[in-house]
Amino acid sequence: MTADPFSLRGRTALVTGARRGIGAAIAAGYAAAGAELILMARDAALEDTLEAIKENGGEATVVIADFADPAAVEATAVELARTRRIDILVNNAGTIRRAPAAETTTADWQHVVDVNLNSTWAVTRPVGAAMVERGAGAVITIASLLSFQGGITVPAYTASKHAVAGLTRALANEWGPAGVRVNAIAPGYISTDNTTDLRADPSREAAIRERIPAGRWGEPADVVGAAVFLASDAAGYVNGHVLAVDGGWLAR
Ligand SMILES: NC(=O)c1ccc[n+]([C@@H]2O[C@H](COP(=O)([O-])OP(=O)(O)OC[C@H]3O[C@@H](n4cnc5c(N)ncnc54)[C@H](OP(=O)(O)O)[C@@H]3O)[C@@H](O)[C@H]2O)c1
Repeated sequence: MTADPFSLRGRTALVTGARRGIGAAIAAGYAAAGAELILMARDAALEDTLEAIKENGGEATVVIADFADPAAVEATAVELARTRRIDILVNNAGTIRRAPAAETTTADWQHVVDVNLNSTWAVTRPVGAAMVERGAGAVITIASLLSFQGGITVPAYTASKHAVAGLTRALANEWGPAGVRVNAIAPGYISTDNTTDLRADPSREAAIRERIPAGRWGEPADVVGAAVFLASDAAGYVNGHVLAVDGGWLAR
């Protein structure tokens, strides 16, 4: 174990969906921990994230890919894996559509599953394969409380988040012997655009807050420590784990 087992100095991290929210916070946190960043986003308007990375002493390259199109994402990821050494992959890009199951269109279902699951696979397969070839790497996927629970009127989201937890375990089994660790983070209720509708409904907001043992919603910054830990040597023997960062929600 090195003097600073949480340091990411000398490593390159690919973070998907880093324009805002949890992904932006993780990218900035990784820069503070010493990593160089590659940001995969659907457009180049990443000024705030790039500024935060710079303020934390880091550097970043931006790669464009729309996660609604897994085939295009895969082509981009294959090229990236061929041309760059990626030590850490954070599968963060994600979306949600809220509607009762009977009113959820197949197009909405497909969109959520493409962004959250199929594009996660499309990035992880080539990037992870290159890690396996080099004999080192860390993959961290942003799962959800809805990797464990059913949720309320978000059927495609829940299905996709259960699936990424399963994929995490499947790949941990397969790639662990090659020195590649595959874990996930299950954030609790975090104040981002993903949860705007919940926080705009006073009774829903209060019901959620009152059920959280920590007594408050999480902030994107609350997820950063777990993301640094899982990427670092400090987590060298942690593989196949889905780490809840939820203020105690799942313990209740
Ligand atoms: N907030 C929570 O309470 C919570 C809880 C559990 C899990 N999560 C998960 O955490 C991750 C980040 O979500 P967040 O809460 O930070 O939400 P957010 O603020 O809505 O951020 C979502 C990110 O994903 C990107 N994204 C969405 N659709 C995309 C697409 N088609 N192509 C490329 N990128 C796309 C967004 O890019 P643009 O900015 O370009 O749209 C954005 O950077 C997601 O996987 C989410 O499911 C969130």
